Amino acid sequence: MKLLLLGSGGRESALAWKIAQSPRVNQFFIAPGNPGTLFEGINVNIKPTDFEAVRRVALDNQIDMIVVGPEDPLVHGIADFLKADPATSHICVIGPSKAGAQLEGSKDFAKHFMMRHGIPTARYKSVTADTLDEGLAFLDTLPAPYVLKADGLCAGKGVLIVPTLDEAKRELRHMLDGMFGQASATVVIEEFLSGIECSVFVLTDGEHYKVLPVAKDYKRIGEGDRGLNTGGMGSVSPVPFADEAFMEKVRTRIIEPTIGGLRQEGIDYKGFIFLGLINVGGNPMVIEYNVRMGDPETESVMLRIKSDLVDLLEGVRDGNLDTRELLEDPRTAACVMLVSGGYPEAYEKFKPISGLDRAADCIVFHAGTTLKDGTLVTNGGRVLAVCSYGADKDEALARCYRAAEQVQFDKKYFRHDIGFDL
Ligand code: AMP
Ligand code: GLY
Repeated sequence: MKLLLLGSGGRESALAWKIAQSPRVNQFFIAPGNPGTLFEGINVNIKPTDFEAVRRVALDNQIDMIVVGPEDPLVHGIADFLKADPATSHICVIGPSKAGAQLEGSKDFAKHFMMRHGIPTARYKSVTADTLDEGLAFLDTLPAPYVLKADGLCAGKGVLIVPTLDEAKRELRHMLDGMFGQASATVVIEEFLSGIECSVFVLTDGEHYKVLPVAKDYKRIGEGDRGLNTGGMGSVSPVPFADEAFMEKVRTRIIEPTIGGLRQEGIDYKGFIFLGLINVGGNPMVIEYNVRMGDPETESVMLRIKSDLVDLLEGVRDGNLDTRELLEDPRTAACVMLVSGGYPEAYEKFKPISGLDRAADCIVFHAGTTLKDGTLVTNGGRVLAVCSYGADKDEALARCYRAAEQVQFDKKYFRHDIGFDL
């Protein structure tokens, strides 16, 4: 079949690496892709949010399936757009309808959905400028710290965790006053949950589902999980505390009610569901839903899928995912992100990258790179994802760190403590 993958980051590089291994794919396009995905298929320079351009590329190349990497096109309704057009309605889109994408596109929608279906999550209240007083009164009932979430998409920046009640009330006003523009016109105030987090990825055809290998990501820039939030500094899979007993609770309390709830509400959902979970005394609770794979979890998760991913995606297309096999690699996979010094604040771009050929025993996925006059240079905060296998996390990470030292660019930074809490 002819497959088109949308996106250009580390997540898409890892998806491309796995998809390109499938004997079922005879032509593979990545839009826009990056210098790393050139090894896997043909890059097409269009924006995934430019639906007309996606439509044109799909038609010009007789695409059969489109895998949507990032959330933006899904939240803006790319699946509905392609389905509504008779010329593209036959194309299978891996990714939910606009209605399903609200699980990520609106935190208020996601919380209401979880309430309707009895899915365990933090207590909350959604407020707007008109109901500010109710929000302030709700904050008074909560113990510190306080969690404030912008309802809409904010590129991962819309969550504030505030230590004191006074600050929480001030920040709530700022958010409703447009701190994140229209995205924070509604704010979800949540009870703070304490526990260790993990990321569970589910692939569903709308009825059946498969749980992909569980991973944990490391979001903060500094070692010991300190400092500013980033797009992700590393990941490890599997996650020891996500054992059989825990995962049985995840399936019965979270995954099945989620898929059942979507069906019951008549919401079309074929694609990935990313459950951001927190383990509260052995019980999984949902911190957030995303409607795509995670980054940098995908980099570890793809390494641990032994089966043909495209066979599973065909199961999604055909509504018979239950008949497909998902085999996991028993080894541990780890990912260490090499980032530009200064990130997630200001940083410089276009630093030449060298030493990729010395990254032995590792798979290096490109994230923020580009070619300038034929030279590979940095082009973003998160530059390369150095990934490896090992018998355990220490062995996998030791390999990543050896390679991380070999790859060079000016002001390279990475965390040396990925997996420290597992
Ligand atoms: P989100 O964008 O919803 O993933 O939130 C970003 C991060 O904030 C999460 O990964 C958690 O570490 C943290 N967080 C969000 N909600 C809560 C909560 N209710 N209790 C504790 N931590 C939270
Ligand atoms: N790693 C978290 C995310 O992709 O949102």
